[in-house]
Amino acid sequence: MQHHGVTIAGTGSYVPARVLTNHDLAKMVETSDDWIRTRTGIEERHIAAADEPTSALAYEAACRALDAAGMKAEELDYILVATFTGDNIFPNTGCYLQKRLGAFNAAAVSIEAACTGFLYGLELAANLIRSGNYRNILLVGAEKISSLVDWTDRNTCVLFGDGAGAVVLKQTTPGHDCLKSVKLGADGRYTDLLRTAAGGSMKPLTVEDVASHQNCIKMEGREVFKLAVNAMVGSSRAVMEKAGITHDDIRWVIPHQANLRIISSVGKYLEVPEDKVYINIQRYGNTSAASIPIALDEIVRSGQVKRGEYLLLTAFGAGLTWGASVIKW
Ligand code: COA
Repeated sequence: MQHHGVTIAGTGSYVPARVLTNHDLAKMVETSDDWIRTRTGIEERHIAAADEPTSALAYEAACRALDAAGMKAEELDYILVATFTGDNIFPNTGCYLQKRLGAFNAAAVSIEAACTGFLYGLELAANLIRSGNYRNILLVGAEKISSLVDWTDRNTCVLFGDGAGAVVLKQTTPGHDCLKSVKLGADGRYTDLLRTAAGGSMKPLTVEDVASHQNCIKMEGREVFKLAVNAMVGSSRAVMEKAGITHDDIRWVIPHQANLRIISSVGKYLEVPEDKVYINIQRYGNTSAASIPIALDEIVRSGQVKRGEYLLLTAFGAGLTWGASVIKW
């Protein structure tokens, strides 16, 4: 029996209104606009308001994606939110988003694969549709990373931003599947490179932990950098081979936006010209699971991809986790 096909019926994205520039950060920690720009490519990032949790960002992106798909929230039968900065530890952020949308015919869940979350979610959602059990799935990558940033740690606070990106995936006829290939990976030996040190069941939060910011993001930046390039290049090569295409066939590489130098290295190793590697890190910083769907939405809305063209998505993040996917638009 042939599986059902999957198509992306609509995209949407949202970033909160408040902009935090490198110059603003230079007033908060010992850093400079020049250091941040040259080491990361980031110029500014958006920061959510106090009363704007991750599900509020996800909601705005989801409404735009539903609108683009010409679909009502009641038509959704599954909501999947990729995030590591959920509204609460539980219940899952999918349920908070479901409530905001009024999408009460949908199952709702969240997954956590940090910056690779959108790609993990994409494969899950596609297979739920292929199984025939679901027809209309909302997949959102949404993060309020500012809620986990240690604003006294210059090694990490300059890197991250808040935002959300969404896609509506729809069942289509067998043989017409836009998701040509996916390759995901993980290596739990590197859990300590990028993490929070307290606030989970391993080390429930104490007053001392809060005072010393143990509940905030900790990172070994240099180690992560090295592993990231290899992981993204390896998985990208694997998905191109699986899809039966080469780098010449790619219209856009859409890399997770963590560091401009990482993105440039990935482009070079993959032999994709610079003007085919999508970059918006200067405006948003690293928005983790939201970064790829925000970039995808920008490309789609500005008419920079035509039906039938190939997109190569690739990401890496805490876990470590990584992955890539080829989409035929
Ligand atoms: N402003 C000024 N100086 C800073 C700084 C900042 N914001 N952050 C760190 N520094 C300092 C360091 O303390 C270090 O000083 P030292 O040599 O006196 O110890 C110096 O700059 C160089 O640090 P280094 O770690 O070598 O810089 P780098 O070139 O590796 O860049 C990162 C640091 C974090 C930008 C880079 O390693 C990176 O992007 N790594 C990947 C991180 C990532 O993407 N994480 C998310 C994964 S999804």
